[in-house]
Amino acid sequence: MAEEILLIAGVAIAVLMIFRMYVRGARCKSKTKLHGKTVIVTGSNTGIGRETAVDLARRGARVILACRNQVRGEAAVAIVQREGGSKNVVFMQLDLASLKSVRSFAETILKTERKLDILINNAGVYMQGTTEDGLGLMFGVNHLGHFLLTNLLLDRLKECAPSRIVTISSHLHDYGNLNFDTLRTHKEFGVGESAGSVFRIYSHSKLCNVLFTHELAKRLQGTNVTCYSLHPGVINSDLTRNMNKMSRRLLKPIAALFFKDVEAGAQTTLHCAVQEGIESLSGRYFSDCAVQKVKAKAKDDAVAKKLWEVSETLCGLS
Ligand SMILES: NC(=O)c1ccc[n+]([C@@H]2O[C@H](COP(=O)([O-])OP(=O)(O)OC[C@H]3O[C@@H](n4cnc5c(N)ncnc54)[C@H](OP(=O)(O)O)[C@@H]3O)[C@@H](O)[C@H]2O)c1
Ligand SMILES: *[C@@H]1O[C@H](CO)[C@@H](O)[C@H](O)[C@H]1NC(C)=O
Repeated sequence: MAEEILLIAGVAIAVLMIFRMYVRGARCKSKTKLHGKTVIVTGSNTGIGRETAVDLARRGARVILACRNQVRGEAAVAIVQREGGSKNVVFMQLDLASLKSVRSFAETILKTERKLDILINNAGVYMQGTTEDGLGLMFGVNHLGHFLLTNLLLDRLKECAPSRIVTISSHLHDYGNLNFDTLRTHKEFGVGESAGSVFRIYSHSKLCNVLFTHELAKRLQGTNVTCYSLHPGVINSDLTRNMNKMSRRLLKPIAALFFKDVEAGAQTTLHCAVQEGIESLSGRYFSDCAVQKVKAKAKDDAVAKKLWEVSETLCGLS
């Protein structure tokens, strides 16, 4: 009897291990080294961003951790230096919920860094709130802050071409919709109260990431700067930290079993950042280290153009 139980337990563990391997998903196969290259990763003090930074440091890049909190940012520098086996990792303060902070970060970069080869727009929030500028928090951080940041650094990226811009979206962009009337009043972009509206607003902001990349690729034609958006997988990160206690408790065991870990979560970002030969796919959306089809609304030329123009107005670029 005891033997049977042991056998069943053994089989169960084996099945679980195979299942976990399957859950890990596709891996970035590129061996590209990045000595002499500079990379910025936003929101890299934890989660997918920090894991991405470790891998880029291992490849020899100078890695700039663009994070909003100095204490968390500097703690991450120590971890990325140790795990990445490189001293060439620095923290620079960037709060994407403040357009002023984005401007001052870009100014510092342009003044102090000669090179910029890869920009990774990774930071993201899944919570209600408003930015310093009075915009919905998820729209402001996930889209608009990165929109301004990218635009301010674009000339430097062009000078350093071939270079890349990678923006972390989500599969949830599928559930997003852009309604420019509500965008104008900002209502749909941050002041909803119910859990359902968090999900909806997050999805809108992630649709913005895909459409931004779609339009950016067009504007970058002929520059040798390419750009990609992506879904990292469903990852056991800190993203759910602002959910209520009950939801987090429920999610925890599910996440441990079914979600990928952050190291697996960094793979598609790394693929888009370093894989050789994907330049002709500029503007496209990736998942599992491969280009994916998106719905018509996520590659609508007119909507993408309009989002670009509205974003320019909102962050004072036009
Ligand atoms: N986890 C998933 O399953 C999943 C699925 C699809 C897409 N994504 C996307 O993947 C990206 C990374 O998320 P994650 O899962 O790694 O989540 P995470 O562990 O919560 O990390 C998010 C990072 O963004 C930073 N951040 C938040 N607000 C910021 C601001 N105002 N200024 C600068 N940085 C800010 C956070 O900094 P603090 O520590 O200071 O808050 C943190 O470093 C996000 O864009 C997310 O939407 C995640
Ligand atoms: C882009 O790269 C190609 C191939 O290396 C090169 O021939 C071309 O001059 C580059 N164009 C620009 C605008 O840098």
